[in-house]
Amino acid sequence: ETPVTHNHEETLVLVKPDGVERGLTGQILARIEAKGYVITELRMLTPTREMLVKHYEEHEGKPFFEPLVEFMGSGPVVAARVTGNRVIEGFRSLAGATEPTTAAPGTIRGDLGRDWGEQVQKNLVHGSDSTLSAERELGIWFG
Ligand code: PPS
Repeated sequence: ETPVTHNHEETLVLVKPDGVERGLTGQILARIEAKGYVITELRMLTPTREMLVKHYEEHEGKPFFEPLVEFMGSGPVVAARVTGNRVIEGFRSLAGATEPTTAAPGTIRGDLGRDWGEQVQKNLVHGSDSTLSAERELGIWFG
């Protein structure tokens, strides 16, 4: 009997403007590929405010919303459609905790992330946090 797997997923990964500016795009994408995930679409763009407000709509009204949207529109971002079994949870685990200082060594943020003080939004990467947000976010970035 062939087992049916229900865990094949897609996620949206963003290399944020700080990651692109620091020249870390290749290293970040290499970690995703080394883990066995597959990048099926890739683009570099400076997102519009409209895209970013949609992307971060669940955080509207939070104190970090404006600085986050402003920072994300400040320069080019690399957006990747990434697929694999349990990739949503798996990529968030690869990315590490939100703050680079407390992110575990071995993670993208823990190994490569700088502490920029108050500017917590400069944490190198974004990954969707659920199947629902992945589907929604992939629509925004890849249409
Ligand atoms: S929450 O509120 O628990 O959902 O927050 P979290 O999932 O950790 O973060 C949501 C996104 O907001 C960014 N973030 C911040 N930016 C600036 N300042 C502060 N204090 C801050 N806290 C969280 C965080 O990096 C998430 O952005 P993305 O782009 O998804 O990583």
